[in-house]
Amino acid sequence: MPVPQNLNIVPFVSVENMMDLVLATGVETFLKELAVYIEEDFRRWESFDKRPRVASHSPDGVIELMPTSDGRLYGFKYVNGHPKNTRTGRQTVTAFGVLSDVDSGYPVLLTEMTILTALRTAATSAVAAKYLAPRNARTMALIGNGAQSEFQALAFKALLGVEQLRLYDIDRAASERCARNLSPLGLQIAVCASAEEAVEGAEIITTATADKQNATILTDNMIGPGVHINAVGGDCPGKTELHRDILLRSDIFVEYPPQTRIEGEIQQLAPDHAVTELWQVISGELIGRREAQQITLFDSVGFATEDFSALRYVRDKLAASDHFEKLDLLADPDEPRDLFGMLLRRQALISAV
Ligand SMILES: NC(=O)c1ccc[n+]([C@@H]2O[C@H](COP(=O)([O-])OP(=O)(O)OC[C@H]3O[C@@H](n4cnc5c(N)ncnc54)[C@H](O)[C@@H]3O)[C@@H](O)[C@H]2O)c1
Repeated sequence: MPVPQNLNIVPFVSVENMMDLVLATGVETFLKELAVYIEEDFRRWESFDKRPRVASHSPDGVIELMPTSDGRLYGFKYVNGHPKNTRTGRQTVTAFGVLSDVDSGYPVLLTEMTILTALRTAATSAVAAKYLAPRNARTMALIGNGAQSEFQALAFKALLGVEQLRLYDIDRAASERCARNLSPLGLQIAVCASAEEAVEGAEIITTATADKQNATILTDNMIGPGVHINAVGGDCPGKTELHRDILLRSDIFVEYPPQTRIEGEIQQLAPDHAVTELWQVISGELIGRREAQQITLFDSVGFATEDFSALRYVRDKLAASDHFEKLDLLADPDEPRDLFGMLLRRQALISAV
């Protein structure tokens, strides 16, 4: 008979433990370390099993499953996107995820991913900008100042050296909260009265608004030569942020074309419109920014490998940390085929009490 091995136990990172892990690491260090994992996985892009995420749409939102595997580990994230949620005190985006050992199929990590998604999205944006943004960019416009916003700002500070932020949100209170949260962290911040004002003098423009419609957060006249646009909020069919004319003037970089053509800003373009895959730039196969006047656009939708990188990073962090619980997740009878016997033994135990 096999020796009992606690195979039932899976490390579980709750929201509280994730916050403690991030704070113990330092938010900017966490973003930088996570960015290394994200870049590493983009560099070995061809070793991943890839497909567009599985999306279940409803009138007010979407629920998505995002699986991928590198043949040794398998990961998936459950994530929702419901822009109306903030009106009832809920998050627009919540998530959790699992990492598993391909060899046995056993999960090796279950974790909250609402905070982790904000971190991985911001780290991915900053990684893309390292290759695409104008050299020495110091000013970023940040339009849409909700849950993702501070994470985006800190990733661009930590990875690119952004020092000045120009905030705009249709809800001024959101911008003021974002400014309050970030001011003590070494960023100079201006709260702006319009998106037009926010983009003035900005070398990088990040849009992270939430609205389930084809919105026009940026119009063509707002985009001067040489700017890098980090478009985060357009990530579903019928949910975009940029006027189509901007796309026609930009060099467009995407994560995984079969998914981005469904969900990204480029859903507004012909299905064969030329785009560059980010992994080809990160791996050195293709050049990102070629010249100062070029408008670059990272049409971010969020891809499964980025969550896989985040899961892999958190799992490695847990090796030297106690920010997790031991979750009794997997039924594990001593004799593997005696699952029913385990139930009977439990019943005997309960009856004996
Ligand atoms: N690309 C990715 O990988 C990725 C990952 C996570 C979230 N997202 C998307 O990013 C967006 C932001 O997410 P969040 O969690 O911060 O949402 P949130 O609801 O917390 O914040 C969105 C903010 O946008 C503001 N807003 C809405 N319409 C606006 C407009 N026209 N102009 C200016 N501001 C406007 C809202 O007032 C709100 O403060 C969502 O659309 C979400 O789906 C993308």
